[in-house]
Amino acid sequence: MPGAKPIYVLNGPNLNLLGTREPHIYGHLTLAEIEAACVARAGQLGRTIVFRQSNVEGELVNWLQEARDQAAAVVLNAGAYTHTSVALHDAIKAIGVPVIETHLSNPMAREEFRHVSLVGQAAKGVIAGFGATSYLLAIEAAALLSQESPP
Ligand code: DQA
Repeated sequence: MPGAKPIYVLNGPNLNLLGTREPHIYGHLTLAEIEAACVARAGQLGRTIVFRQSNVEGELVNWLQEARDQAAAVVLNAGAYTHTSVALHDAIKAIGVPVIETHLSNPMAREEFRHVSLVGQAAKGVIAGFGATSYLLAIEAAALLSQESPP
């Protein structure tokens, strides 16, 4: 879609450690490798992405607010803030841009404290449990949701 706004892919705390962080849960790919796969998938769909990571909750809030004007849709892996952040929940509600909650693992199949998602209670939808493929599916969903005539 020529001229379309980019899809923002925002990553929360500890995702900078991917590759070495609990690889039996999160896989062996680094965040840079996941970013490269996202860029490639977006390119196949004729879309561009802005890919960022922060360990700081407020920075994620700022990026969501920026996305209000600058992004067509947001793929958000908020990491542990998924389960705790009223601020992210409120930011998602405020911006009016579709947000797709995304996870490498399937939080519903893990510890009970991961079963609550404050992000998911505000997001358009959730893709979780497919490893790095979750990001690619989320980009596809973001591209479809933000095209001129969504399915
Ligand atoms: C995660 C799942 C969260 O529960 C966890 O805190 C993370 C990663 C995932 O991608 O599977 O940091 O968001």
